[in-house]
Amino acid sequence: MNGDEGQPRRTDIDGAAHGIPTLTVAELEADPHGVFRAWRPRLPVIGHEVAGRLVLRATDVDRLMRDPRLQATETLYPETRGIPNGTLFDIFADGMLTANGAVHRRRRSPFTRTFAVRLVEGLRPRIRAAADDLARDWIGQGEIDLVERYTALIPARTIADLLGLPRADIPRFTRLAYEVSRVLSFTFAPDDVPDLEAAAVALRDYVIEILEARRSAPRDDLLSRFLAEAEAAGELTPQEVVIQIVQMIIGGTDTTRVAGAVQVALLLQHPAQWEAVGRDAGLIPAAVAESLRYEPSVGSVGRVARDDIVLDGHVLPAGRLILLSTMSALRDEAAYAQPDTFDIRRSDLPRLHPVFGGGAHRCIGEALARIELEEGLGALLRLTPDLRLAGAMPVLQGHSGIRRLNGLRVAAGRARPGPVQA
Ligand code: HEM
Repeated sequence: MNGDEGQPRRTDIDGAAHGIPTLTVAELEADPHGVFRAWRPRLPVIGHEVAGRLVLRATDVDRLMRDPRLQATETLYPETRGIPNGTLFDIFADGMLTANGAVHRRRRSPFTRTFAVRLVEGLRPRIRAAADDLARDWIGQGEIDLVERYTALIPARTIADLLGLPRADIPRFTRLAYEVSRVLSFTFAPDDVPDLEAAAVALRDYVIEILEARRSAPRDDLLSRFLAEAEAAGELTPQEVVIQIVQMIIGGTDTTRVAGAVQVALLLQHPAQWEAVGRDAGLIPAAVAESLRYEPSVGSVGRVARDDIVLDGHVLPAGRLILLSTMSALRDEAAYAQPDTFDIRRSDLPRLHPVFGGGAHRCIGEALARIELEEGLGALLRLTPDLRLAGAMPVLQGHSGIRRLNGLRVAAGRARPGPVQA
C-alpha cells in the first residue's frame, strides 16, 4: 500500500474507433494504483475487459454519480458474469443497490430513518464499549490477526445488535456474507459460481429463518420495526424484504472489516502519524477519512449508460457496464495534492467523502461505518499504543467492488493500565 510507481503493462488499443486501451482483469489486479496513475493524466476512461469501461478522474466520477443518463445496473452485472438466475441473481434483481427510480426509493426508504446520522450517533457508546471489550480480549497475547480478532468483529457485532441477530450466529452469517460479496469482484471464475450461489442460498435461508422468528415474536429491534413497517405499507414483496436484509448484512460487514484493518496498517506504517493521533484523539476522524481515501475498501461503483455519453471525446457506450472508479478518483492528482502520500492532515478531501458514492445510492451505512472505524481505532490508540505490525505491510487486493485483505498480523504489548478514557 505504498503507492509505488507503476506503468501500464499492456496498451492493447481497443480499435481506432475508441482509441482507448482495454486492460485485462489480471493487469488491473496486479497493480491497480499503478495502472490508474499511468492512464489518468492521459485519458478520462479506459476499457475494462469485462465491465466495458472504467472512468478514472475525480471530477467525472463525481459528476457521473448523479448524471441521470447513468443508471443502476439492475441485472446487467450478473447477466454479464454468466449468472442468469438463482439467489445470486435475485440479490441484484430485488435489492436496493442495483434498483432505479421508484423501485429503489421503495426498497431504501424503510431504512433511511434507522440509519439517520442522529440516531446512529446514539450507538457510539455501545460501539466504543464493544471495541474496548474486543481489544482487551487479545492485548498481551503476542501476535494476532487483527482482522479476525478485532476489525471483522466490530461491524459484525454492530449489525447483529442492530438487526437483533444472536451474537452466536456471527461466524455463520459473516462467513456467508464474505463469500457472497466475492461476486462483486472480477476475479471469480465460472467454476466458483456454484460455491458463491450456495453461500447466497444459505445466507438467504438464514435471513428467512430470522424473519420468521421475528414475525411470530416481534422484539424492539430494527428487524421487527422494518418488518412491521414494510408489511403495513404492503410495499415490499416477501422476496424484497429478505433481499434488503441480505444486502444490509453484506454491506455492513465486509466493507468495514477491511477498512478497519487498512487504517491501522497505514498508521502503523507511518509511526509519526500513529503517535500524533494517539496524542490527539481529535485527529481520529481525519485519520479514518484519509485511510479511506488512500486505500478505499470499495474500489468502484457500477452503472449502465442509457445513451452514449461522451467524455472528452471518448464514448461510454449505451447498454454497457461502466465502472466509476472511486479508487482512481481518490488518487487523482487534479483533486489532491501529492495523492500518493498518506497524510492525515490533508485539507483537500471533500466534505462528502467520495468513497461512499454519490447520488441516490450514496451509502446508507456511512454514518455507522464512520463510527465503527473511529471507535475501533480509538480503542487501540487508548489501550495498546505500542501496537506494531508483525510482518510485512499487508496488500489490499482488488480494483473494484469490495476489496480484499488477507489478514493483518500485529503484536500488542501489555494492556495500558488504568481506567478507560472517554
Ligand atoms: C467503509 C465502509 C463502507 C464503504 C466504503 C461503503 C461504500 C458504499 C458505496 C460506494 C455505496 C454506493 C454504491 C453505488 O452507488 O452503487 C454503498 C451503498 C450501500 N451501502 Fe455502503 N459502504 C460502507 C459501509 C456500509 C455499512 C456499514 C452498511 C450497512 C450497515 C452499508 C450498506 C449499504 C447499502 C445497503 C447500500 C445500498 C444503498 C442504495 O443503493 O441506496 N454500507 N456503500
